[in-house]
Parts: sequence; C-alpha cells; structure tokens
Amino acid sequence: MKTKIVKIDENNIDPEAIKEAGEVLKNGGLVAFPTETVYGLGGDALNEASSAKIYAAKGRPSDNPLIVHISKMESLSGIVKEIPKAAYLIAEKYWPGPLTMIFHKSDAVPYATTGGLETVAVRMPSHKTARALIDAAGGYVAAPSANRSGRPSPTVARYVIEDLDGQVEMIIDGGEVSIGLESTIIDLTGEHPMILRPGYITQAMLEEAAGEIEVDSTIIDSNSGQAPKAPGMKYRHYAPKGELTIVEGEPEAVVDHINKELTKFLGTDIKTGVIATDETAARYLGGVIKSVGRREDEEAIARHLFRILREFDDDEVQVIFAESFPREGIGQAIMNRLLKAAGHRIVQAKRA
Ligand code: TXA
Ligand code: MG
Repeated sequence: MKTKIVKIDENNIDPEAIKEAGEVLKNGGLVAFPTETVYGLGGDALNEASSAKIYAAKGRPSDNPLIVHISKMESLSGIVKEIPKAAYLIAEKYWPGPLTMIFHKSDAVPYATTGGLETVAVRMPSHKTARALIDAAGGYVAAPSANRSGRPSPTVARYVIEDLDGQVEMIIDGGEVSIGLESTIIDLTGEHPMILRPGYITQAMLEEAAGEIEVDSTIIDSNSGQAPKAPGMKYRHYAPKGELTIVEGEPEAVVDHINKELTKFLGTDIKTGVIATDETAARYLGGVIKSVGRREDEEAIARHLFRILREFDDDEVQVIFAESFPREGIGQAIMNRLLKAAGHRIVQAKRA
C-alpha cells in the first residue's frame, strides 16, 4: 500500500484534507493522526474489519483493547450502557483532554474493538486536527498509539512513518505533540473509580473533580505479582533496543554511579548512553548523552522521553543508563513509562 503523507496545521486546518482523511476512515481504511498526547492509529471504531486492520498494522495482540475517540459529549451515550455521575464530573473538568474513561459498552461497539471485553475505553481529545478528523469520520475513531507494538509511542510524525509507512492509507503530520505521554486511564465500571494508567491528569486532579479515587497498584509496584487491570499494561513496552537501567538516589550519587558504570565500557566497542537532565548532562564521562529537560520542568521531561528513547535506537546505543524522577504528579507517569522501558531494571546509587 502507498501511504499518503499530509501536513495539517492544527491552527489552520485544510478542510479538504480532513474530508479526504474522514472518507478513508468511513471506507474502513486507516489514518494515523496527531493528538495532544501521542500520535494515534485511527480506524472506524464501529467497524470490526477496521479494528482488525489496526491490530495487524501494529502487530498488536488482539486481546489488547483500543480506545474509542469522540469529539462531543453527545456521542458518548451511543457507545456505553450507562454514564455514571463521576463521569460527568470528570468530563466537565478534563474533557476534551488527555484522559480516557472506561464504561460498560453498548452493543454498537464490536468486540473486535474492545479486545473481547464488555467494557469500552473512551477519550475526547483536545487536539483540533484530531477532533476535526473524528467529526469527518462519523464520530467514533478507534486509535491506539501509532507505533509498532512494543516501541515507544510516537510524539513526532517521523516515527509514525518509520513504524507504519506502507501499512496505512494516510499519515497526518501535525508536528510535535504537546504532552508526549499517553492519556491517563480511569476505570468507572468497578465499585470505586480506579486509575489504570497514570498520565498528565493526575490522581489529585481527578480527586478534585470526583472525590476519592483508587490507583491500580501494579502501576508503580513492579513486584506485586499481580496482573495489571489494563490489558496493555502487562506487555513489555517502550523498550529501546539497548539495555536500559534506571539509577535511583541522591542526584550527586546518581551521577557518580553512572560515571563509574560508563568507565567500565571505556576502550570497549560497546556504545553507551545516558538519559540525563540539563543540570547533569555536562558531567557524564562519555557516550551518547541526551538531556530530557530541566529537572523542575516535568512537562518537558514527559514531552521528550519517548523521542529520546527512539533516538538511542537511531544511534545504535547498546547500554543506556537513566536518571530517575520523583514519582509524584506527572512524575508518576514518567516513572511508569521509564520503568516499563527498562523492563523494571532499577538500581540504587550509593555514595562512594
Ligand atoms: O493518549 C492515548 O490514550 C493514545 C492516543 C492515541 O489517544 N492512545 C493510546 O492507546 O495510548 P493504546 O492502545 O496505546 O493504549 C490503550 C490502553 C492499553 O493499555 C489498553 O489495554 C487499555 O488502554 N484499555 C483499552 N480499553 C480498555 C478496557 N476496556 N479496559 C481496560 N483497559 C483498556
Ligand atoms: Mg500504546
């Protein structure tokens, strides 16, 4: 298949291009598109055959359900059995935005979209191009992140093209996304609302809207021995090709520890790298050093993390060390993704 690549500026949307992309989706084809979180790989959510194509294009296990994207609140009742009060409270504050809610699904949603589950994940993105595309496609667009299964989610179109060129009818290039980590997922089908995947919308923010909210313990605790409640969270994910180790501890001790490790590879032909911060980047002894941003600027760290993981692949780095980040606020989402990328390999830096 020849993939058509179209640039669309969110602030000056070409209606003809959106119309064409909407037609592709209505006809059962696939279109990758930007959202404020990461790029999505879109298909018609109510068409079984489209969902099957999404799984094939991503190489994704078919028990891993897709998120259905809508552009207006009225669309929600078409795909869910009931809308709990908490959903209205949360939607009022955080939709449109980087938040996904899980509901009991209605018969309109095929099992091919929900990975066989009776529940459906729904998100209303704020990105203007995404919203225009959803409208043009008839209102319901299923979209996982637009990466090959297992790779970091794409935050720029270049990596969508790298993973999906030739597998989809169209890729919309909307430049770099603004958030860089996938949406927060909250399950509203249990007794209490529960966060299944941390993201930009934090537990505290959700509690402000809807009272007490639980967190799936597997999100932060890698050793609980329990299966995560979002099927996709159990798969190895985001992993760079090189071996990634996170080093935790006092900032000074972390720099010392990583430098000691780097020294072991000096004079070998193994290529090393470091995920550093602006404050520390100049202090590492060698290898490919990449800063994710300033330590205090968590939003920048979130925005840059996936791109940097991909760049280590481009640079063929074999052994990577990462600094760690406080697991609060957005930091919880950053560490959740970093831990998955590292296959939960984390060590404590000790003061020499
Ligand atoms: O920000 C995002 O959410 C992006 C953009 C494109 O919207 N999408 C995204 O989709 O990250 P994906 O497919 O890469 O991740 C969806 C996650 C998976 O972990 C999946 O298992 C979980 O959502 N999920 C989907 N439906 C679910 C359901 N009914 N119950 C539990 N988990 C569900
Ligand atoms: Mg994904």
